[in-house]
Amino acid sequence: MNSPEQTLSIIKPDAVERNLIEDIKSIFIQNNLSIKDNKKIHITKEEAAEFYKVHQSKPFYNDLCSYLSSGPIVVLILEGEDAISKNRKLMGATDPKNAKENTIRKLYGISIDKNSVHGSDSAENAKKEIEFFFKN
Ligand code: CMP
Repeated sequence: MNSPEQTLSIIKPDAVERNLIEDIKSIFIQNNLSIKDNKKIHITKEEAAEFYKVHQSKPFYNDLCSYLSSGPIVVLILEGEDAISKNRKLMGATDPKNAKENTIRKLYGISIDKNSVHGSDSAENAKKEIEFFFKN
């Protein structure tokens, strides 16, 4: 059996605003991802820009940073076997219209921007993203 991994999840402003926090958390728990820590925060646009800096050359970067800082979000440390890939599978494709049935983005996402959740895409980014929100 592989050792447990940790990953970072963000419940984005569109989902917090629609009171979907508990529904999304229960999807993680039902799929054997435990919530090691979580907090509701409201970040600045500068903090969002730092968090998403891997996307700084993308045309959607400015809107993305404005959006993530537009309202409260919930950041979570998820832990479990294959947590990184499992969380990405549970989230579904970035654009909700391409996401598979019963994935979080299919169930709750509104658009590619308002896609309800973020999840780390690699072990390296999971470590960086967890540190970004929880280790300072
Ligand atoms: P997320 O997984 O949080 O990572 C970066 C975010 O950029 C992504 O989800 C989307 O919400 C947003 N985004 C907006 N436009 C695009 C695009 N064309 N391709 C990928 N991501 C996009």
